[in-house]
Amino acid sequence: MSASIAEALAGLAPARLQYRIHHEALVGSTNDWAKSLAAAGAPEGTLCWADAQSAGRGRRGRSWLSPTGGLYLSLVLRPDLPPAAIPRLTPMAAVAVARAIGPAVAIKWPNDVLLDGRKVCGILSELHGDPAAVILGIGVNVAAAPDLAAVPTAGSLRAPDRIALLRAVLAETDACYDGLLAGAWPALLDEWRRRSCTLGQEVTVTGAFGQATGLAVDVDADGALLLATPTGTRRFLAGEVTLNRGEGATP
Ligand code: BTN
Repeated sequence: MSASIAEALAGLAPARLQYRIHHEALVGSTNDWAKSLAAAGAPEGTLCWADAQSAGRGRRGRSWLSPTGGLYLSLVLRPDLPPAAIPRLTPMAAVAVARAIGPAVAIKWPNDVLLDGRKVCGILSELHGDPAAVILGIGVNVAAAPDLAAVPTAGSLRAPDRIALLRAVLAETDACYDGLLAGAWPALLDEWRRRSCTLGQEVTVTGAFGQATGLAVDVDADGALLLATPTGTRRFLAGEVTLNRGEGATP
């Protein structure tokens, strides 16, 4: 075990996840790495961690800039949950990361973590294999890198202690996952709501369906966004949100 893995795990006493950390300086995508380990039978708790990615992937087929200094993780989960409950893992992870970073961050629907209105963390969950493993990919921008500075919506955490951040993410992910499996989804969703900078805002949702503008009134039990529009309430399971004004407005 490398010194940084030992440091990340020291003193952690997870309730549910027996973390097995793999660490590399550079990989293509930690999600792809974790998928290949999951396909070879890696157990729940297997975690792929890289200092940089050359082909980091984001939602909706986008790439995720992954310069050295950020935190790039993918966790193999094999949850005992009905298929309809699997999408809860992504908002669960957003709550865990928000707890780990602290009260200054907010969650923008669906699951972006923002600091001062700029995205500092993205989450990409993917199902893989049969029986399915969930690969929970988390990317956190930790220190302002020149590539990221050029992206107007991207921000970075100013706390450069990546190991401390990693430890906090591991601890909170374990606590949230344990809660989710124990039936605490309503409480996690309520925490998501409290940390949200989307609810109560005029927003535009963009997706394959086109665009819709309205008031983000709530998320339902599936985490779908409920938007009050002039033609009635609309429900969105996926999409991209632009906050049209107020705190956390997208630059
Ligand atoms: C998003 O578009 O908001 C999701 C970004 C997810 C990025 C992380 S970085 C670690 C893991 N490996 C990847 O290739 N993507 C995810």
